[in-house]
Amino acid sequence: MEKIISLCKRRGFIFQSSGIYGGISGCWDFGPLGVELKRNMKNDWWYVFVQQRDDVVGLDASIIMHPDVWVASGHVAEFHDMLVDCKECKHRFREDELGGDRCPDCGGELTAPKAFNSMLKTRLGVSDDSAVETYLRPETCQSIFVDFKDVYSSSRMKVPFGIAQIGKSFRNEVNPRNFIFRSREFEQMEIEFFCREEEEDHWFAYWQEAIRQWYLDIGLRDEKLRWYEHPKEILSHYSKRTTDIEYEFPFGWGELQGLANRGAYDLTQHARHSGKDLKFFDQQSQENFVPSVIEPSGGVDRTCLAVLCNGYHEEEVEGDTRVVMRLHPRLAPIKAGVFPLVKKEGLAEIAQDLESGLRKKFNTFYDQAGAIGRRYRRMDEVGTPFCICVDFQTKDDETVTIRDRDSMGQVRLKMDEVADYIGKRCSSERN
Ligand code: GAP
Repeated sequence: MEKIISLCKRRGFIFQSSGIYGGISGCWDFGPLGVELKRNMKNDWWYVFVQQRDDVVGLDASIIMHPDVWVASGHVAEFHDMLVDCKECKHRFREDELGGDRCPDCGGELTAPKAFNSMLKTRLGVSDDSAVETYLRPETCQSIFVDFKDVYSSSRMKVPFGIAQIGKSFRNEVNPRNFIFRSREFEQMEIEFFCREEEEDHWFAYWQEAIRQWYLDIGLRDEKLRWYEHPKEILSHYSKRTTDIEYEFPFGWGELQGLANRGAYDLTQHARHSGKDLKFFDQQSQENFVPSVIEPSGGVDRTCLAVLCNGYHEEEVEGDTRVVMRLHPRLAPIKAGVFPLVKKEGLAEIAQDLESGLRKKFNTFYDQAGAIGRRYRRMDEVGTPFCICVDFQTKDDETVTIRDRDSMGQVRLKMDEVADYIGKRCSSERN
């Protein structure tokens, strides 16, 4: 894990937030390469689960909502961790993460557990007496429930259908840890899929398979994925059934995405608290009913971390250690490195021209500094799937070499075929 964290910092994937002030626990910044990786991932998810489907539409709702939302959703009453403090060293722990009844750090006596709400409070309004106290959302889905009627009537969707959203969520985690795995500010990608109660099991099984397939499609290895079924006693207050897809990180198995059957809980709660009718009217059967909800709820940051851990490899090449990030070409921050073999004899100009043409279509990187082998290695380390080299033969026949990051094999192509060659391999389109 240390090697991955260090590469992320050194090459501009992820930095500690507010680093020059000593950092702030549980907050992270995605640097120039990290932001590209994250965007590519979110775009692929959106492409697969929203744009390619006629039964899912999108939403981008406000992070700050009416405080009553969080009363209705059950978060004010239920969204807390039970915490204990050590009476000796004063360290604080989540009760459910303790192995025994003594302090894991110093062996001291522990206090009785106390409930600590995990939502981050904020105030809206300028003067003290008129300001409204509310929360930064701890999950993106509540706005989907609150906007349910506006969305389905404006888009003329009919049950079964889904509403998807990607956005920031905030939780005052007691122990942010494992790099970006557990943060206080993070992004979620969620779908609330509305169906009839009698079809809950069908859609649960459907989404379980769809989620797994997406993780495989972005390159995660099958043997590193598993399902964890929540026992009834630990189900969240809203859930009838939850199963998590977990990835085997270097620090152990960890949840990437939860799949929950929320039944009619949320729409019923919001209807009761707002006094508004949130039933769905089925024109065909002339029935009015509150639909059930199947919810795939994933973490963007956690998936980025899984992709980075999954991609990181070290291998011996000609007596040297090659560090290579085997990112799926679709996710890679830079799609192609373009190099002249040497700077002289017009090769640099040809390579620059080629690079500026390709840049119109993908994120590319031009490099003429140092030995060609070193330039390849710099691109390997950040997961660039293709490196294009302009050499002396290019001047004769307008061909270049394309080196594949993983096999290190090379093919020769006409310069005007390069964009198509790379585009096909980086596209989100599935075969
Ligand atoms: N709406 C349901 C919900 O929020 P959750 O299991 O609490 O369910 C869903 O969260 C996903 O959000 C998790 O599977 C995880 O990927 C991500 N997530 C939750 N808390 C997180 C945290 N503190 N840091 C990073 N990601 C987190």
